[in-house]
Amino acid sequence: MPIKKPLGKKGEKKAIKANRPVKADWKEGMKKKITGVADMTLLTKITNEAINENLMKRWQNKEIYTYIGSVLISVNPFRDLGIYTEQVLESYQGKNLLEMPPHVFAIAEAAYHHMNSYKENQCVIISGESGAGKTEAAKRIMQYIAAVSGGASSSIQEIKEMVLATNPLLESFGCAKTLRNNNSSRHGKYLEIQFNTQGEPVGAIITNYLLEKSRVVGQIENERNFHIFYQLTKAAPPEYQESYGLQGPESFLYTSRSNCLQVEGIDDVQDFNETINAMNVIGLAKHEQDEIFKMLAIILWIGNIVFAEDDAGNAMISDPDVASFVAYLLEVDNESLSKALTSRIMETQRGMRRGSVYEVPLNVAQANSVRDALSKSIYERLFEWIVTRVNASLEARGAAEYVIGVLDIYGFEIFDDNSFEQLCINYVNEKLQQIFIELTLKAEQEEYVREQIQWTPIKFFNNKVVCDLIEEKRPPGIFAALNDACATAHADPAAADNSFVQRLGFLSSNPHFEARSNKFLIRHYAGDVLYNVQGVTDKNKDALLKDLHQLVTASGNTFVADTLFPERIDPNSKKRPPTVGDKIKLSCNALVTKLMQCHPSYIRTIKPNDNRSASEYDDKRVLHQVQYLGLCENIRVRRAGFAYRTTFDKFLERFYLLSPATGYAGEYVWNGDAVQGSLEILRHNNLPQDEWQMGTSKVFLRHPETIFGLEHMRDRYWHNMATRIQRSWRNYVRYKHECATKIQQFWRRNKYNIGYQQMREYGHEILAQRKERRRYSLVSMRKFTGDYLDITNGSGGADVIRNAISFGVNEQVVFSMRGQTLVARAMRASIPSPRTLVLTNQALHFVMTTRKDQVVSTIDEKVIPLNSIQSASVSTLCDDWVILHTNNPEGDTILSCMFKTELLAHMLQQTNARITVDVQPEIQFKKKGNKTSVMKFIKDETAVGDGLYKSRVVRIQSGQPASSMSDPPCSVKPRAVVRRQPKQTTTTRPRPNPTRSSVPASKSIPAHAPVISASNSPPPPPPPPPAATPQPSSEPKYKAIYPFETDQDGELAIEMGDLIEVIEQDDNGWWLAKKNGKEGWVPSNYLEEVVEEKPTPPPPAPPARTRRPPPAIPPAETVEQHSPLPTPAAYVTPAAPVIPSAPAIRSVPAIPAIPSVPSTPSIPATPRATKPSLPSRAPVASNSPTPPLASKPVLPKPVVAPASTKPTPAPRHIIANVNAAPIPVMPGVAAPLNANGVPPWRAQLEAKRAAAAAENTGDGSDGKPSPPVAPKPVVPARPNNLGKPAIPSRPAQLQPSQNPAATSLAEALRQRRQ
Ligand SMILES: Nc1ncnc2c1ncn2[C@@H]1O[C@H](COP(=O)(O)OP(=O)(O)OP(=O)(O)O)[C@@H](O)[C@H]1O
Ligand SMILES: [Mg+2]
Repeated sequence: MPIKKPLGKKGEKKAIKANRPVKADWKEGMKKKITGVADMTLLTKITNEAINENLMKRWQNKEIYTYIGSVLISVNPFRDLGIYTEQVLESYQGKNLLEMPPHVFAIAEAAYHHMNSYKENQCVIISGESGAGKTEAAKRIMQYIAAVSGGASSSIQEIKEMVLATNPLLESFGCAKTLRNNNSSRHGKYLEIQFNTQGEPVGAIITNYLLEKSRVVGQIENERNFHIFYQLTKAAPPEYQESYGLQGPESFLYTSRSNCLQVEGIDDVQDFNETINAMNVIGLAKHEQDEIFKMLAIILWIGNIVFAEDDAGNAMISDPDVASFVAYLLEVDNESLSKALTSRIMETQRGMRRGSVYEVPLNVAQANSVRDALSKSIYERLFEWIVTRVNASLEARGAAEYVIGVLDIYGFEIFDDNSFEQLCINYVNEKLQQIFIELTLKAEQEEYVREQIQWTPIKFFNNKVVCDLIEEKRPPGIFAALNDACATAHADPAAADNSFVQRLGFLSSNPHFEARSNKFLIRHYAGDVLYNVQGVTDKNKDALLKDLHQLVTASGNTFVADTLFPERIDPNSKKRPPTVGDKIKLSCNALVTKLMQCHPSYIRTIKPNDNRSASEYDDKRVLHQVQYLGLCENIRVRRAGFAYRTTFDKFLERFYLLSPATGYAGEYVWNGDAVQGSLEILRHNNLPQDEWQMGTSKVFLRHPETIFGLEHMRDRYWHNMATRIQRSWRNYVRYKHECATKIQQFWRRNKYNIGYQQMREYGHEILAQRKERRRYSLVSMRKFTGDYLDITNGSGGADVIRNAISFGVNEQVVFSMRGQTLVARAMRASIPSPRTLVLTNQALHFVMTTRKDQVVSTIDEKVIPLNSIQSASVSTLCDDWVILHTNNPEGDTILSCMFKTELLAHMLQQTNARITVDVQPEIQFKKKGNKTSVMKFIKDETAVGDGLYKSRVVRIQSGQPASSMSDPPCSVKPRAVVRRQPKQTTTTRPRPNPTRSSVPASKSIPAHAPVISASNSPPPPPPPPPAATPQPSSEPKYKAIYPFETDQDGELAIEMGDLIEVIEQDDNGWWLAKKNGKEGWVPSNYLEEVVEEKPTPPPPAPPARTRRPPPAIPPAETVEQHSPLPTPAAYVTPAAPVIPSAPAIRSVPAIPAIPSVPSTPSIPATPRATKPSLPSRAPVASNSPTPPLASKPVLPKPVVAPASTKPTPAPRHIIANVNAAPIPVMPGVAAPLNANGVPPWRAQLEAKRAAAAAENTGDGSDGKPSPPVAPKPVVPARPNNLGKPAIPSRPAQLQPSQNPAATSLAEALRQRRQ
């Protein structure tokens, strides 16, 4: 197999380097599936039948080419498969045989590349039966070489054009329609294209072999003369018609006798033009063309000379005018022509001297024979002259260094009656077969020796014995016997034939020969052929009669006399002219010598049927060809040692994917040499040691299965990669959606709490794990919600405290909680006294409630402005004491508060972290009159509960380590959609029109109320199903009552009237819905449940609320009551509910009045005394507080979740929000959202849409705009976790809206509640 290597000197040894190959192409895995095996050395079973079957499968799959190693087998498709286009040609350029599917272009590329790389002459030997496709293959090779060989110079282009033009020219003169092939080559041709050192074609030489000249004078029925005769007679220009008396082919006996003037698929007129064109390209001058056509006319007219028998029984010309016209054209004497055709000059010999001369008249048969001999001779010489003339034109321009020869020779022939022509043809084929065997074996043997590989020679039939039988001189072979017979009995052909038969007797001992009376049989490699002896000697002699020779040499036409017949007979010469046998032997041996000097490529053509059918595969016919072409032996020889071999670098390049050491993710990663790389691949794939051998430059694999296996793995590699990528991608997409849904769910559930959680984290950062933790504070992460007593709203008993405090301008409560403070006593130690601690954005208020004489009075006992607090101190133990260091002459303030961390967090938040917090084991503080004292903290495991305070000493049990982290909140189970039981559907009443009528608010069930309570009572028995009524779907469906346009990720756009499935109902106004397989969030108030009406009256009404209303629908009155903005009437109807815009509705229930954490068990009243039982979470709606500490004063009534305090926001509201002040944020974090938590752009968009919808009365919603989407709540941004937060100036002095930088989290929370 030719191997591509850079140009280098022949024989030069090179280090085998692993060149980095081109990146493997994933598209290879997508290539068309190959049928059968492309290289038959890889056939698992080597029989003629297996080969035949493989060829058949491929042929039927339009794959006409198959390899045996580097030998190309081509099965004639008899149709245009479109496989010789420019693109296909280009695809083979620069590729080796293994890289591309088998093709004649690949053979041409290999030969051309080998010539350039190895500086070796190349030959392509094309063999096969008549009509198998040899000439077509030869033409394709020329096409390829002309296309790929460089050379922009005009002379090279000219040569290329000329080489291609030789095809139509020589086909016209050398091809004819036969029974086997409409364009059968009736001569052998060896075309050598000459190249210069750059691989550019500089010239060409054509060698012609054995033209079938007998065809000129006669053909069997339904065959034709050479194409040129029909072209000329049908398409000759008027000047030729006139000058040469040309008429249609039917007018000439040589063209009409076989009754075949027209051939399907051949256009003689067009072909004539092409012939003329080819002559012009090749450079035949007009006068030369004239001479050629004149000769053809002469031949045609000679054929029309008919003989009749005269009275003496001798031949006489029937129509002397025809003879005269021939004499005129031939420019010979009319008399001489007639004489030469009807008589023969005989000369007697006396001893060695010439004797008398006689003129012997010929009979009609003899005259016909002489006439035809003249025609044949003229045509043969004309053809040879044309070849010579073409060669003259193709003569090399510049130094020709290398050649690529293409041999297109007639195929092996077996007829019923085989004569001398078949003997010659079959002899040539024997010789070619011999070269094939010799060269393939030789090459194989040499390779094994060179590569130091051991192999067992295979037995095969060497046809040298048949070649010897035909051509040997001693003992004389068939040609020698023929010559002898011709020499001894030259006068009488019959006697010569007899003499030949006798001489054949000497060959009877040869096992490949058999004499059978006047016939003889030769056992050729391709089959036994029986030859007829009659006329063989005459044909072998092929001497032009002396009379005829004299006639033509006497012609006044120099083209005839000097060009076609230049030789002059020496009457005294004793030298025997060479016979045809001599000539063919000579030229054949010359050819063999030439071919043996070249690097050969083989194309073995096969004919699938005799009917030129594109669909018929004649099994037997092909099997025979497979047999005689010796394909089986070819494969065996090829596989005798190792079925597959390739150079190390090629092997590595092809299979580097198969080892992680050589290839990774399709990339070539090997850095070592090619030998080690190949070894790595072989070893990594666990190939048995006896399955492969390393030569000196190549890897040898013994069995075809091995290479199949490797190829298969290589193919699968890309598929596996593709599958992995697909799997990963699908996983990624699924994961992305899951994550998105989770994030959305999380956000929707937690957005109201995030601010509180951030506050909590901030508080813990302040203490920075310096203070021990109380055990129960670790139970779960509590949110820091601030105003636990709801002083802001004054709900419950909080109004008493609220009224007691005289709040300053813009003073807002951020934290409220029960606590204690140390009160001084005269002459006695201070004691703790209960207080209500109310922290505002300006001061910390200590509210005291006293009872005197049954009168309860509440006073704001002490107010510490925040700006007077310098720092705060807490102990390292888990007690609740906080000392606030102030510049007050009354001394520092000492307080105890269960939520001291939160209190400190709010304080720092309000002061922008100006107050520092110290954590110390002992705390020094100022007493009245600037005296200092120390408060001590002592661990005492007997001090249960919150510890004991006595005389500036706090005793407290050990707490949890300061680094302890609270448990995460328990996950809240998503609220499943409560599927409505269809049987409970009791909508006997007509459904109220949601846009006009309203359902009383009292009928609606709060979102958090257990809907299934309706089904607590046993449901009524189901009514019998109506006979033909379809069962209502058990899946509740929702209908979009407004269009919801969105292009937001995670949201689902819906059209009005869309039926959608609700997967999850969140209380925040957004439901997870599914439409056409797509999931996304939609505003719940845009949906209405679809209730299928029953045709029959329903059973008695079950409990009234069978249909769950949308969550969090405020009662209409409440909405109106609290709405600060006028709301269009349409919005207050519960049937078109909207999500209240104020997040407080949702957030308040989430805020426990005591330190119970949503989703986690609330802490029991006296947790420290007994093991706490962890009751389940109190329903949010009930807001039943858990009392903080039993010993503490009674807390005011806990905050009850207010009913919807916000009305349905109108579009105007949204617009207003767009212009609202930015949301207050934690220090150092920019405000991302507006006051509603909606990004400004989004709010504007929504507002615009709503406004547009409101104006648009033709939008299908009865002129009523869509309700606004539930606004997103205010979520304070995360505090800056890194170091101290950047603190904006105090918010107290400024209106939040006036100075966004001065706003705070507390402000944000307050705003949100409002
Ligand atoms: N590769 C091919 N693709 C399409 N048609 C082909 C191909 N090869 C051969 N043929 C068809 O088969 C016919 C015979 O082919 P071709 O003339 O090459 O045979 P051949 O082997 O040269 O025969 P002969 O020995 O008689 O000269 C062609 O004229 C063409 O119609
Ligand atoms: Mg041919």
